[in-house]
Amino acid sequence: MLKSGMTEYTLITGATSGIGRAFAVEFAKRGHNLVLASRNAARMSAVQKTLRQKYKVKIVCVKTDLSRPQAPEELYTFCTQNAYLVQTLINNAGCGLKTKIQVDQNPRDIEQLFQLNCGAVLKLSTLFGKAMQKRRSGHILNVASTAAFQPMPYAALYGASKAFVLSLSEAMHIELQDYGVSVTAVCPGITDTNFFQHGKPTVPGWLYKLLPPELVARRAIRAMYKNKIYVIPYFQHWLIAQLGRFLTRNAAAGVMRRVAQMRQKIRFL
Ligand SMILES: NC(=O)c1ccc[n+]([C@@H]2O[C@H](COP(=O)([O-])OP(=O)(O)OC[C@H]3O[C@@H](n4cnc5c(N)ncnc54)[C@H](OP(=O)(O)O)[C@@H]3O)[C@@H](O)[C@H]2O)c1
Repeated sequence: MLKSGMTEYTLITGATSGIGRAFAVEFAKRGHNLVLASRNAARMSAVQKTLRQKYKVKIVCVKTDLSRPQAPEELYTFCTQNAYLVQTLINNAGCGLKTKIQVDQNPRDIEQLFQLNCGAVLKLSTLFGKAMQKRRSGHILNVASTAAFQPMPYAALYGASKAFVLSLSEAMHIELQDYGVSVTAVCPGITDTNFFQHGKPTVPGWLYKLLPPELVARRAIRAMYKNKIYVIPYFQHWLIAQLGRFLTRNAAAGVMRRVAQMRQKIRFL
């Protein structure tokens, strides 16, 4: 039962492009009211306009940079003060760094990635998760990656940040399951989005399927409603992720090093 004046919303971080935008479309189709939180107000308005034309849902846009440490709490306060009851939280916003060895990364870039990929996910899951626990209902869906399953030389912090998201989600899944709150991590393989600012890796389909973001969003939502602990949204990617389980950590890191080196050389088809 909702408190009077409260309306249910799905909060999606990073909904202006790629997987987050696909989540916004899928939830709007299902009749969910949306709170979208990203940095680019114009792109958020464009998503809002498109979805409002097609679906009868309320859409609120919050311009925020979630790599600022105080941003998640501000977002939580904004939703609470406006009586937006966040019944579903999609922690999607995330970024990578230029392919380099970790010690050569810019310290400011490191801090921003850490805050966005880990800090914001942690704070939003904790704040909204607490409110969901009290209501004994709600869903949290965190976007990790297949990068979470093995060390990622030349993308060390990105891999570590997604391992953090996966581990946090799995533990919270167990902790909150007795309170009627589902927590699911979605671990996509390479997906066709703006994520790769320095040239999209397009690989032959038989070797590696580049996923459409719509497929990732649909399969992630299905897993969330089935209360799965995690999901890898494509069988071929699931199979590749399993390799990490059979190799030693050292061997898995070595394979990923080779992959990273090949990606620098190969002109992907
Ligand atoms: N693409 C892949 O191959 C792949 C694979 C596995 C996992 N993922 C994960 O999927 C998630 C979505 O990425 P994507 O592939 O859809 O990339 P994308 O198209 O670049 O989308 C990233 C989204 O995050 C938002 N964002 C970025 N920095 C932000 C910040 N500081 N504060 C608030 N919002 C921010 C962006 O919006 P604004 O620019 O408007 O802020 C954008 O909406 C990420 O967590 C990524 O790690 C991607």
